[in-house]
Amino acid sequence: MEINYQETSKDLLMRIYIHETYGARNIDQWNIEVLNPQPGQKILDVGCGTGKQCFLYSDHTGRKAEIIGGDFSEELLEKARARQAERGDTNITFQFLDFNKPFAFADETFDIVSSAFAIYYAADLKFTFREAHRVTKPGGRLFVTGPLPENKKMFYDIIKEATGKPIPPMPGSSRFKGEIFETIQSIFAHTELLVFENPLTFPEVSPFMDYVRASLSEDRKLWTSMFNTREEYEQILRSIEAVATRWFERDGKLVMTKVVGGILATK
Ligand SMILES: C[S@@+](CC[C@H](N)C(=O)[O-])C[C@H]1O[C@@H](n2cnc3c(N)ncnc32)[C@H](O)[C@@H]1O
Repeated sequence: MEINYQETSKDLLMRIYIHETYGARNIDQWNIEVLNPQPGQKILDVGCGTGKQCFLYSDHTGRKAEIIGGDFSEELLEKARARQAERGDTNITFQFLDFNKPFAFADETFDIVSSAFAIYYAADLKFTFREAHRVTKPGGRLFVTGPLPENKKMFYDIIKEATGKPIPPMPGSSRFKGEIFETIQSIFAHTELLVFENPLTFPEVSPFMDYVRASLSEDRKLWTSMFNTREEYEQILRSIEAVATRWFERDGKLVMTKVVGGILATK
């Protein structure tokens, strides 16, 4: 399956900001509790974007883990490198990696291979997770996070009510628990599914709309079946805002719960 999906730093950073501002829980803390990376370990983060998880592991290990962040977006890699230069983490390397192609690492290189909200877009899951398995050391761990089907129900309900149209299939949530879990389980020695829930409470409609814009943004090419022109896009956003405002007036707040799955596998 070919998934024509792109991320932009503007939209990605906006969504990260909104999660951090309005979420009750911190997904980074959960990530660290699960993985507890140690100084001296070698870590690969696949689909690293602007480097969020790489900086997290670097901080947690006192910059003493050797970390590689791989992504196929040069725009996002540049942002990650700029941040790295500001912070001065010499233990991180950001480099091109397309998870639909063979990974440019020797067998059994990494103690931890992680991928947050990224690798589930892979065109051939077996191929990609075999590559992840190949570069993991024996006893090393893979940790893949992504949305579960119950994720952001309120967000989809508002969009459904506003547009009357079916939500385009989201490759992440529709595949995560089933196909992706099963693929990883068939390749790794031990696999388990962990769940993280984070309610985001919006005290007004406008930050919710910022989130909607950063999700539906035509640049991401995920939602294009809903609109063709700029005008249609703006029209849909106005309808979504009208429904969100109605819900807000009815309930006094808007609560969107992120339901994230973490597949933890050991080689
Ligand atoms: C939602 S972002 C998550 C980024 C980061 N892990 C985070 O949590 O902030 C998804 C990432 O997957 C990357 N991506 C998508 N397809 C890819 C591919 N074929 N190879 C490598 N990275 C890819 C995108 O460029 C983007 O950085």
